[in-house]
Amino acid sequence: MNPKFRLSVFLLFWASEWFSAKSTCFSGCDALASYYLWRRSNLTYVSRIMQSQVLSSIEDIISYNKDYSVSHSSRVNVPIPCNCINGEFLANFFQYTTQPYDTYLTIAEIEFSNLSTDDWIMRFNSYSSSQLPQFRKINVTVNCSCGNSEVSKDYGLFITYPLRTEDTLESIANQTKLPPELLQRYNPGVDFGQGSGLVYIPGKGKATLF
Ligand SMILES: *[C@@H]1O[C@H](CO)[C@@H](O)[C@H](O)[C@H]1NC(C)=O
Ligand SMILES: *[C@@H]1O[C@H](CO)[C@@H](O)[C@H](O)[C@H]1NC(C)=O
Ligand SMILES: *[C@@H]1O[C@H](CO)[C@@H](O)[C@H](O)[C@H]1NC(C)=O
Ligand SMILES: *[C@@H]1O[C@H](CO)[C@@H](O)[C@H](O)[C@H]1NC(C)=O
Ligand SMILES: *[C@@H]1O[C@H](CO)[C@@H](O)[C@H](O)[C@H]1NC(C)=O
Repeated sequence: MNPKFRLSVFLLFWASEWFSAKSTCFSGCDALASYYLWRRSNLTYVSRIMQSQVLSSIEDIISYNKDYSVSHSSRVNVPIPCNCINGEFLANFFQYTTQPYDTYLTIAEIEFSNLSTDDWIMRFNSYSSSQLPQFRKINVTVNCSCGNSEVSKDYGLFITYPLRTEDTLESIANQTKLPPELLQRYNPGVDFGQGSGLVYIPGKGKATLF
């Protein structure tokens, strides 16, 4: 094979590999998770279950929620690390200690306020869903985003936002003061009125890439 031809075959191969792997990740970043505070939850509890290298005390949460008083809002932004897992997707694994009567479903829907789902948590744990042992550490996987440079380079810190029944594209655009078109471009094909599931909302500030 002549070297020029060999090089172009290599480049073609490399380019097709690169394009087919485009949706995967190369590195991580800082991110936020929107935690909907349910009746008996509080920031102490949230800072305990969502502890990480970027969250060790309540103050770490409060510093991201200066714009409003936490008691008057049912959602708080919680700092989370956003890691590239096996080059395949962006998420953080929280180490959660199981309590009596916990199931993967209650851990997803209550303890983690729909930031994950039972199926997604189960995927990264060896325990069967019918026999979840008590007082054991399990992995709770919360997805996240580091943005998309094809949409805009102006936003750095992305919020993992579980949709609730009261949400619409317009209401979220209004609350975040962001154009609805921008929110939709970061979440292609997602119906913001679907009442459940995750969307990624660009936040102010620049994230540290790692
Ligand atoms: C915070 O929530 C935890 C768990 O629900 C509870 O045990 C604790 O008493 C609460 N603390 C306050 C100050 O309400
Ligand atoms: C999570 O979603 C489920 C199903 O939509 C809902 O019943 C539950 O109240 C939600 N959890 C919280 C903490 O709001
Ligand atoms: C997290 O992301 C993965 C990969 O994109 C996806 O398959 C999974 O359904 C997501 N989990 C949740 C709870 O949204
Ligand atoms: C949690 O994830 C780690 C790393 O992937 C794995 O070694 C560990 O076995 C998982 N925990 C459970 C309970 O499956
Ligand atoms: C938009 O938000 C303002 C307060 O920030 C509120 O008064 C107004 O009713 C909201 N409009 C819609 C359509 O949600």
